[in-house]
Parts: sequence; C-alpha cells; structure tokens
Amino acid sequence: MIEIKNLNKIYLKGKKNMVHALNNINLKIDDRETVAIIGESGAGKSTLLHIMSCIDNFDGEYYLDNIDINKLSESKKSKLRSSKIGIVLQDFALIDDFTVFENVMTPLYFNKKIKDKKGSVMRALKKTGIASLKSKKVSQLSGGQKQRVAISRALVTSPEYIFADEPTGSLDSKTSDEIIKMLFELNSNGITIVIVTHNLEIANQCHHIIEIKDGNIIKDICS
Ligand SMILES: Nc1ncnc2c1ncn2[C@@H]1O[C@H](COP(=O)(O)OP(=O)(O)O)[C@@H](O)[C@H]1O
Ligand SMILES: [Mg+2]
Repeated sequence: MIEIKNLNKIYLKGKKNMVHALNNINLKIDDRETVAIIGESGAGKSTLLHIMSCIDNFDGEYYLDNIDINKLSESKKSKLRSSKIGIVLQDFALIDDFTVFENVMTPLYFNKKIKDKKGSVMRALKKTGIASLKSKKVSQLSGGQKQRVAISRALVTSPEYIFADEPTGSLDSKTSDEIIKMLFELNSNGITIVIVTHNLEIANQCHHIIEIKDGNIIKDICS
C-alpha cells in the first residue's frame, strides 16, 4: 500500500529558477490497484512517479507498505527498490549497445538475494514474450519490442509495484494495446501498477485515476 501525506517537491530550492513541481500531495493506493496518473505536460506526473519509485527525494511523508521512505538511508532505499519496485522510464531508457539479455540483467548486478540471475532474466523475458530475442542488440528492435525489454527489466526482481512513465507514449495503437494488456495481466498476477498516461482510454481501464494540474491533485477517483 502507498500512502502519501503533505508531499511537496521543489526543484532548485532556494534558487531564482526554483520550481514547485508538487504541491501538498495526499493520496492512497491500495495493493493490487491499477492506477493512472493523468494531466497536461509539465503538471508533475513524472516527478510524482519518480518519487513513488524511490528514485527522487521530496519533502513530506511517503509510506510504502508502511515503510517511512524519508527515514531510509540511500542504501536501504536501493535495497527496497530492488525488492519491491520495478520502474519503466519514459522512452525505454535501455542501453542500445547491450543485448536484450544484458539489459534485463542490469538490475541484478548488485542484487545479492537473487541467486539464479540467468534464470530470473529468462523468466522475465518469457513473461513478456521476447525470450527468442535475448541475444539481439536493443538497437535492432522495434518500439514495442523495446518496451517489452523495459518491462522485462522492471519484472526481473519480481516486484510488488511497477511504475511506468508513459509506457505507450511512442508506440502505435496496436502495439500500445499489447503493452497495456501485458501490464494488466501482471496486475491480475498481483502486481500494483501505476501508469502515467495521456491516453484517456487507458486511464479509464484503471481502478483508480489521479489527475494532476500544476502540481496539485485535482481529481482522485476510484471505481
Ligand atoms: N530536474 C528538474 N529540475 C528542474 N525542474 C524540473 C526538473 N524535472 C522537472 N522539472 C519541472 O517540474 C515540473 C513538472 O515536471 P514533470 O514532473 O516532468 O511533468 P510531467 O511529467 O507531468 O510532464 C515542470 O515545470 C518541469 O519543468
Ligand atoms: Mg513526464
């Protein structure tokens, strides 16, 4: 479960060009929800997603499964990330020169808990249907295949949460449907899914829609 209380994010704090990107955010996300975060460009969606993924700092309170994130050291935070969280960043954020297998392996290099690393990579690739592409360089793949690699990389540590930033933003509508279907399948296997999206059709398929405008939550609807 996610609980966020009075959370603020200020970039370049104290500087002339500081940005108050998130303003007093309060929200709750239950286990196994699918959540859409919507809003115009610059609203603060990615900022919120990065904070929820524990890759960015903030002021205020954030509890992930009752763990007070602001009280964790960097090393504890990174352990938490590798045990609970899978992240799909905007525009895939893959290493083009690496093979599919090598990209999906990257979160495991510093993971001491997972012993069968190769097996974990192959299981993740099978879940996303791209095991046969394991030896291909990422630069040779289509957009949809790249997104499957990014999702495999998020899955490889068997996370409880997946945070995806515009996962269909650069895909055609058919490929986009396939990717969303895959994320929903992962949800039906118990993973809480948070998706930033501009696509209202996708948002309307989610249990929970959060709309942000200028760093404020202006709608928070659970169905
Ligand atoms: N690293 C950063 N440094 C300074 N300002 C930033 C940074 N990242 C985002 N911002 C600003 O914070 C606001 C919210 O950005 P972002 O969360 O990326 O919005 P969205 O994902 O909704 O398009 C914008 O005004 C953006 O310019
Ligand atoms: Mg964004």
